[in-house]
Amino acid sequence: MRAASCALDPAAVVAPVRRRTFGSFVEHLGRCVYTGIYEPGHPLADEDGFRADVLALTRELGVTVVRYPGGNFVSGYRWEDGIGPREGRPRRRDLAWHSIETNEVGIDEFARWAGKADVEVMYAVNLGTRGVQEALDVHEYANHPEGTTLSELRRANGAAKPYGITLWCLGNEMDGPWQTGHKTAHEYGLLAAATARALRSAEPGLELVACGSSSSAMPTFGTWESTVLEHAYDVVDYVSCHAYYEEVAGDLGSFLASAVDMDRFVDSVVATADSVGARLRSKKKINIAFDEWNVWYLSRFQKQEPATEWAVAPRLIEDEYNVADAVVVGNLLISLLRHSDRVTAACQAQLVNVIAPIRAEPGGPAWRQTIFHPFAKTAALARGSVLHTRLDAPTYTTARHGEVSVVDAVATHDADSGDVVVFAVNRDQGDPVELTVDLRLFDGDLGLAEAWTLADDDIRATNTLADPDRVVPRPTPLVSLDSGTLRVVLPPVSWSAVRLGTAR
Ligand code: AHR
Repeated sequence: MRAASCALDPAAVVAPVRRRTFGSFVEHLGRCVYTGIYEPGHPLADEDGFRADVLALTRELGVTVVRYPGGNFVSGYRWEDGIGPREGRPRRRDLAWHSIETNEVGIDEFARWAGKADVEVMYAVNLGTRGVQEALDVHEYANHPEGTTLSELRRANGAAKPYGITLWCLGNEMDGPWQTGHKTAHEYGLLAAATARALRSAEPGLELVACGSSSSAMPTFGTWESTVLEHAYDVVDYVSCHAYYEEVAGDLGSFLASAVDMDRFVDSVVATADSVGARLRSKKKINIAFDEWNVWYLSRFQKQEPATEWAVAPRLIEDEYNVADAVVVGNLLISLLRHSDRVTAACQAQLVNVIAPIRAEPGGPAWRQTIFHPFAKTAALARGSVLHTRLDAPTYTTARHGEVSVVDAVATHDADSGDVVVFAVNRDQGDPVELTVDLRLFDGDLGLAEAWTLADDDIRATNTLADPDRVVPRPTPLVSLDSGTLRVVLPPVSWSAVRLGTAR
């Protein structure tokens, strides 16, 4: 059997595990909001119209922060349409998704939902059709305690306490020509800096995210980040990255190695941000909010005929995920964890129905897609610090990423509990690999606590309404710990997590 190995050292710490790595995204797109998180007529709807089954799955997923309300949607959105008595709320065209927005859910409802889901809100302001004043207005409505027109309006609408939203996105994908109100890097950099300065005058402690590139394949990638940060470096905390992956033209080998692209993307943006910081002689570091990432069969979506009707909550981008997709998602989380020194927030796009780990049928059940499982297990098990995890492993050659490792892995160590967790994928399509991990540098009596593997003879198997638990993580069959050495057999196209605990 092929072999891979690594030695872990509790002193070789990358950074703390960031709870915000396990973020998600709710956009007014398709059925993410309407018949996703919110469906008043559903048998499981609570008193606010939120689906209790979707709320329960959101908590089980381990989501910590949720970006809202878009996405491309936000670049034409008027936040004040979504407040006050529902019967008075306008119906608007949403140009981004060619849909009708009824505005039944707005910032107040979403904040209430977030409280029930026990997640932090990451709020995106519209810098497509709007600017500094509207960003200040929604901030005043959301965060100002009381005694001003907009804070009193929030209170009159039922929220006596401010929402205390800390994390704010300064627009969305403003580099993309598809974006309503698309701007050049220079135009956007000036607007982002002006908006950031104004928001900081209102509340200095905010954490602000400037738009980076909507993909590393954009022609402006690199120069966009550089120009935007030259304008906004001192007043923002994050630059965003967005990346979606799919299997193109049957090239499964490249697809399974998508995390290599994510690694390079992050390293490039960190280098670009640091070079701007050096030019500005700044001591400050800009971190990355990887606030949209996932597997998305984007080319299928792009081949569809554009919608002609204006529908409310149409079925859009309801991708069904298979085993290989779940392995890639698990690997992308390994990449995000590995970069925890600079990627300090991330949002899987999206939460429910739209390219999502959770599916929900109108009036019917909700279930876990395959990609739910590596996310939920990683969010539950990754604790403490991320450790440098250097692998010695066989390689293979891909068309898109060159020579890549067959195995990828990252480990976390919780110094309080003593737990060590190893997350690993095998990208090989035919053969298992035995991964050996040397743990002799860890104090205490480590024992095998739990080990889970997601794999299947049919890597195209999916979870469906009829068979929602076809693909689930199962106890890893071949795993042992002997004299401080972990041995685990990783099946072909698989994701695994092994937790070692101490008796203390
Ligand atoms: O997540 C779907 C879309 O992908 C978002 O609206 C946009 O920001 C990105 O292009």
